[in-house]
Amino acid sequence: MQTLEPENNQLLAKSYTLKDWQGGYESLTEEFDYWIDDIEGEIPSDLSGTLLRNGPGLLDINGQRLHHPFDGDGMISRVTFTNGRAHFRNRFVQTEGYLAEQKAGKILYRGVFGTEKPGGWLANIFDLNIKHIANTNVIYWGGKLLALWEAAEPYLLNPQTLETLGNEYFDGVLSKKEAFSAHPKIDPHGKLVNFAIKPGLSTTITIFELNTQGKITSKQSHQIKGFCFIHDFVITENYCIFFQNPVKFNPLPYVLGISSPGQSIKFQTNQPTKIIIIPRGEKAPREKVRVLETEAGFIFHHVNAFEIGEEIIIDSICYQSLIEVEPNSDYRETDFDKNSPGQLWRFNINLSTHKVENYLINDRACEFPVIHPHNVGKSYRYLYAGAADQKGVNAPLQGIFKYDLELGTEQLWSAAPRGFTSEPIFVPRPNSQIEDDGWLITLVYDAEYHRSDVVILDAANLAKGAIAKLHLKHHIPYGLHGSFTPEIFTA
Ligand code: CO
Repeated sequence: MQTLEPENNQLLAKSYTLKDWQGGYESLTEEFDYWIDDIEGEIPSDLSGTLLRNGPGLLDINGQRLHHPFDGDGMISRVTFTNGRAHFRNRFVQTEGYLAEQKAGKILYRGVFGTEKPGGWLANIFDLNIKHIANTNVIYWGGKLLALWEAAEPYLLNPQTLETLGNEYFDGVLSKKEAFSAHPKIDPHGKLVNFAIKPGLSTTITIFELNTQGKITSKQSHQIKGFCFIHDFVITENYCIFFQNPVKFNPLPYVLGISSPGQSIKFQTNQPTKIIIIPRGEKAPREKVRVLETEAGFIFHHVNAFEIGEEIIIDSICYQSLIEVEPNSDYRETDFDKNSPGQLWRFNINLSTHKVENYLINDRACEFPVIHPHNVGKSYRYLYAGAADQKGVNAPLQGIFKYDLELGTEQLWSAAPRGFTSEPIFVPRPNSQIEDDGWLITLVYDAEYHRSDVVILDAANLAKGAIAKLHLKHHIPYGLHGSFTPEIFTA
């Protein structure tokens, strides 16, 4: 376990300026399609396949600013690696809301995270028609390219052209407006496991399992007491595990048009976090759902989970409290020093005694954790994440972090002072059995040129610096999640 750095961190010069960081929150309205020719270093010749990214492409509608980046319309960025070259394409998901607002040239919908239609509460009262923005993740599964957003059904895209084809309902197993989260997991048997949250005073959690053909082979639902704000989950061989963050939801200000659903959620420091353990696979018919408790904390993303005998081990990025979205705040003026950092924690759960132990593994502020895709739900050694440049402080993500759980050591590649990182994707080297033998690919916003780079790192050795930096012709606003497929899409 790491110890904290000396208390004089406040004296360290900041690794960034807020102005540089804000540049990554400007809209990208244009759609591009080109071979990348401005490259530092060399693209590995055995790196072959397609990197897919999703995130808010627009942070304003025709100059009217959105209240929070999470309300921004989904834009897919695609980087295809083939024969030592790379091709870039980006395209907006043509959701109903995107098309309507682009046509109208103004905000027509309320956003989950505080974007309101102009005109104050009178214009927003009783308008519960939230815009489906398809902005959180993008996966290629069962021959289908799907843009995911946790509160509604996926959008189906043409993987060659990124054209939007409509919504995906998996042969009618998913119903209209039914949720399908943005955090699916692929288990070691090649099944895609995903969930849906139907919030309310009590919450329904639905779990889907899909085969490699993209068909839903099982769907089970469970009623959970209380309101749930759950963005991610973890799976093991026998369980799906959810952390019910201690929050209270007051729907009245939202219904009255005074605030968004995101703003109506309040963190409860005096309430425990509940850990919901739902059996899957062969255990599903025989075991009951368990609900255990641990200390208050807020989790957006988990790293991984696995079973050892009667124990389940879960690694997560945990915040001491939730950063609440205030109605009159400006996210671009975030005071990072005032917010609690996301840090790497481990939870040990004993299924016999129902005892939960937790401890801090590392205090560096980090987010968007990833691992080798073959280790999902299994014991593992290495994790990677976007991270702050300096230890012990809360700051924007400027580094890519590697943590060795076996040795307790870390490595950091940093784009500071003017670069800002995002989620890294781990791409295993073809035919290698070594856990960290592969590449980390991440989009880095470079404030100096107001453009983004596709940065390729050697996952085994971050210290040797970038293998290649592919300079795009433009910036890409800070994104959320993405994935990699060995398929080649360049049309
Ligand atoms: Co997420």
